[in-house]
Amino acid sequence: QQVEPFDYVIFGATGDLTMRKLLPALYNRLRMGQIPDNARIIGAARSELDRAAYVARAREALEHFLPADVFNSGLVERFLGHIHYVTLDSSKKGAQWDSLKTLLAGADPDRIRVYYFATAPQLYASICENLHEYGLITPRSRVVLEKPIGTNMATATAINDGVGQFFPENQIYRIDHYLGKETVQNVLALRFANPLMNAAWSAEHIESVQITAVETVGVEGRAAYYDTSGALRDMIQNHLLQVLCLVAMEAPDSLEADAVRNAKLAVLNALRPITEGTAAAETVRAQYTAGVIDGKNVPGYLDELGKDSTTETYAAIRAWVDTPRWKNVPFYIRTAKRSGRKVSEIVITFRPAATAMFGATPASNRLVLRVQPNEGVELRLNVKNPALDVFNLQTADLDTPIRMEGGMPFPDSYERLLLDAVRGDPVLFIRRDEVEAAWRWAEPILDAWKDGKVPMQTYSAGSYGPEQAVRLLAEHGDNWHETAE
Ligand code: BG6
Repeated sequence: QQVEPFDYVIFGATGDLTMRKLLPALYNRLRMGQIPDNARIIGAARSELDRAAYVARAREALEHFLPADVFNSGLVERFLGHIHYVTLDSSKKGAQWDSLKTLLAGADPDRIRVYYFATAPQLYASICENLHEYGLITPRSRVVLEKPIGTNMATATAINDGVGQFFPENQIYRIDHYLGKETVQNVLALRFANPLMNAAWSAEHIESVQITAVETVGVEGRAAYYDTSGALRDMIQNHLLQVLCLVAMEAPDSLEADAVRNAKLAVLNALRPITEGTAAAETVRAQYTAGVIDGKNVPGYLDELGKDSTTETYAAIRAWVDTPRWKNVPFYIRTAKRSGRKVSEIVITFRPAATAMFGATPASNRLVLRVQPNEGVELRLNVKNPALDVFNLQTADLDTPIRMEGGMPFPDSYERLLLDAVRGDPVLFIRRDEVEAAWRWAEPILDAWKDGKVPMQTYSAGSYGPEQAVRLLAEHGDNWHETAE
């Protein structure tokens, strides 16, 4: 369904995120017939480009990043017709703002305006101040903030305060693209639409939860950003904690934004603090060394960086949610660059049947939600082994792929989120208090690491990670779920 006419202003319009994700996502929405003819996408960046030059860059990006089966040159040209460009150093004041102002003034003042900040987060507050100063904030304007919202609690609060001076909270959309992923949203369906699952969804039946997001890529062209960030800030403080919240939260009353966000916030607030004293037991951090991925030799992190660094490219954490529902259930979270595979998944291991009738204890039921690739749901059950006269058990997996009708490719996680901001639906965006609660838990871990309380381990590129991460689970008789097993 088509959304209302809008002006989408993207600050950071020449950057990697815009080219790789935002423009392809908007093009795909046009392809699905959701973008009205008079909608405008206005790129803003410092580069001195005219409209034609920016459109040429956008065309190149679409050619490069869109899969061949969705690239349609007629549609691409139609999409490019929506694009405008203004040269603007958005954190500075001055006459340079005039062209954006004039462009926006050409449309109905009631038109929806989305300001998307794909710039360095330190600039968010000053861009908002300038939007205000040049009279560009209308009642129907909203701002979309890319992660990372800060690098710790103090910087996150400063960004939130700075933006909050000019936009009320209900006009602020903090994006976390993991919430745009189909199987992540499916956690809600699976839990709350299936009484079978819902009834078993607690410490009484669940032994442990694993949340994994590992990838084969290294830091590529993003070393400067990544080295100031690291795995915990880049993936865990935001994406993986959000996934944990959906797995662990109590049932919200509805799918209204505040109902869902309150339920997530309660989980974040119930996370047991990891302190200097417990960090060594509950966390593992590591950097990759040289190795082989997909048959190719790849250098280690320090070689890639060309300097020394104490930034982790791998992190594994044993987290605890201190609510009655999750009493003594470990939540294992891990993320890695330069892993041997790209996998994001949620693995729920249930307690084994408490029966002696089969001799050996039956295997635990296990539910795997494959976030990517091969989106799907897998449930391991025990069945009788048919080959034997004696009554023995074997395991069988019910495996259901989650697919689009007609075998269409899955929409990218940004697609829905970009238009949710136009529709004014914030349910899949992060509220201020969630970001801050996540930092309240994450920052002490970073502090303990900085103080050398947890040694930096190594793992070779292409491996599953450091040995210490295996031990984190082995202490509870658990092991990581590897797709290869
Ligand atoms: C981003 C991180 O937020 O998520 C990247 O900054 C990471 O470092 C990416 O590669 C992973 O996203 P996805 O959708 O590929 O799992």
